[in-house]
Amino acid sequence: MTGRRILVTAALPYANGPIHIGHLVEYIQTDIWVRFQKLRGHRCIYICADDTHGTAIMIRARQEKRSEEELIAEMQESHLRDFNAFDIVFDNYGSTNSEENRQFCTEIWNALRSNNLIVQRDVSQLYDPEAGTFLADRFVKGTCPRCSAPDQYGDNCDKCGATYSAADLIDPVSTLSVATPEMRTQSHLFVQLESLHAFLDQWTQSGRHLQTEVANYLKGHFLHEQLRDWDISRPDPYFGFEIPDSPGNYWYVWFDAPIGYIASTKQWCDRHGEAFDQWWRSDETEIHHFIGKDIIYFHTLFWPGMLKSAGFSLPTKVHIHGFLTVGGEKMAKTKGTFVMASTYERHLDPSYLRYYYASKLGARLDDIDLNLDEFATKVNADIVGKVVNLASRSAKFVQTMGLSAEYPADSGLFEQGAMAGDAIAEAYEQGEYNKAMRMIMELADRANPYVEAAEPWKMAKDPSQTQRLHDVCTVALNLFRQLAIYLAPVLPRLAQQTGQLFGTPIQHWSDSKTQLTGTAIAPFQHMMKRVNKKDIQKMIDESRTDSDVDSEPQQATNEPESVAGPLHDEPLADMCTIDDFVKVDLRVARVVAAEDVPEARKLSKITLSLGGDEQRIVFAGIKQAYQPDQLVGRLVIMAANLAPRKMKFGVSEGMILAAGAGGKDVFLLTVDDGAQPGQRVH
Ligand code: MSP
Ligand code: ZN
Repeated sequence: MTGRRILVTAALPYANGPIHIGHLVEYIQTDIWVRFQKLRGHRCIYICADDTHGTAIMIRARQEKRSEEELIAEMQESHLRDFNAFDIVFDNYGSTNSEENRQFCTEIWNALRSNNLIVQRDVSQLYDPEAGTFLADRFVKGTCPRCSAPDQYGDNCDKCGATYSAADLIDPVSTLSVATPEMRTQSHLFVQLESLHAFLDQWTQSGRHLQTEVANYLKGHFLHEQLRDWDISRPDPYFGFEIPDSPGNYWYVWFDAPIGYIASTKQWCDRHGEAFDQWWRSDETEIHHFIGKDIIYFHTLFWPGMLKSAGFSLPTKVHIHGFLTVGGEKMAKTKGTFVMASTYERHLDPSYLRYYYASKLGARLDDIDLNLDEFATKVNADIVGKVVNLASRSAKFVQTMGLSAEYPADSGLFEQGAMAGDAIAEAYEQGEYNKAMRMIMELADRANPYVEAAEPWKMAKDPSQTQRLHDVCTVALNLFRQLAIYLAPVLPRLAQQTGQLFGTPIQHWSDSKTQLTGTAIAPFQHMMKRVNKKDIQKMIDESRTDSDVDSEPQQATNEPESVAGPLHDEPLADMCTIDDFVKVDLRVARVVAAEDVPEARKLSKITLSLGGDEQRIVFAGIKQAYQPDQLVGRLVIMAANLAPRKMKFGVSEGMILAAGAGGKDVFLLTVDDGAQPGQRVH
């Protein structure tokens, strides 16, 4: 087998706060991908580090009257403890405040200089004379210049939504000292990104390295005009690396942070006797970055530009995910939904969250919603109910006998499961974990009826059935093991317990193709308990504070906004691109039957023909507007590729398009005569 060599990174968490469940979306997503690649037999390393520099850390250390080094050491320990609790395993976890990082920063800096990419210019900024530091916009408060609301931050107004710079505030006050800030001018160093425009156009738009929606966003927001220079230095005092050829100036945290990926890899290479150039200067190594959508700009423009200029490998792919919401809303301390990893872990099993996130994550930038009811239901129904149950209901009966010597007839169940392996693997590879989880659960849905029909617990009472019992349990356990292998990237603990149960560790994806026979079965150890809703409530209660600071401490906004302009209020996630739109398969359909669902207030059950003998059943909320017999024979438009949805009265296999507010106010979209059922709607 010719394995791939793959370097994977997740964004470096800021050292100014603990890990929370929003961060975990990313670190779990990446961990799953890495574990998957390793299980496939590829060489793959997971590299990360703490992002330690910048004003926020400096200020906090000052407030806590200790050194920055002490503070970041403590945070690193706390981050690692949390990652460990969630089975997130790095091959190297470094720090941007390392000697290796200083060296690579210098190397890349020198390359930028020799490519004539650095220029010097004056920048005027508010300065706090008492604290003795320049002030990022977020560290200034004052009266809104537009609506006169008092006590607004220096970047935008909470009340009227205006965005401005801190210098525009009326009666500005420094939040560090309550001094009145004054305007001071300082010389800064800039990278002339425009010189790399042609390269960045080509790299971002090649269709290979970025999701389409990201490429379009960059084209529409940045690359359609001149790229602005990037302010890359900060004057003393600043916690960071001093720029060797510009004493008194420091590299801006966003310069040295991504270089931390390289520095952390170097540490790993040194520890393992690996050649560094094979990892960062080789066409044979793939480099995959996983990041959230708030830091697209840094990773898709500056970073490739820096790498290109200094002769390092470019990222093979930047995988970008959306933000976590809880119950459809932004995480909020006042609601108890801003949950720290450590708080979660005190109350709930980390495996639950790993599975839940996997079941939600696709390859796109949509936000991911943690719905706590769904969380409990999904974990209980899928993992406990469908997967673990297969083992727990059959393992005890074969403990003395072990598995049958030959694999019994199972009407093709194991074979079907083995054949699904490639498609499941492809879904993991593409980051479509939600699809992978669906396919795995479909297999579980076939395995369970087998056990239910055979009723091993009844056979166990009948001595004449011993051989049959033995066989049924052999099948059930092998089907369980196949599922545990497919789930191993998501649920490493379950995989490990499965290895113990069978006395054979799960080592390779292809183990899913081979049945185990004739081997002993260890005493069944409890694998996973059901989610208890009371524990969820305790976690929320414990997370609730009266804090008015509801949002995440974002260092990106704590820093003087880079001259490139704001990133955070781009309506990226809400826009539907043409690519999104054409994904919906709209079809002409004829209503061939319609009936009332008596128990439902709004629903009618409608059978649609898509031509030939293709039919769909759809539950549509149109009962109050149309009688069933008014519908039969009509041509309507349906969304034909919606994932089937289980409703109380049956499975709905699509949607019918209509206008109006609902209730009596519903108007079906119809098609002129002559259209044929099954035709695509454009
Ligand atoms: N330090 C920078 C990254 C530097 S990479 C060279 C940073 N740190 S962070 O701690 O704020 O975020 C780390 C990662 O977690 C980012 O990719 C960010 O998008 C992600 N998330 C932070 N909060 C999140 C949610 N609420 N939801 C999903 N991902 C989130 O950015
Ligand atoms: Zn205002």
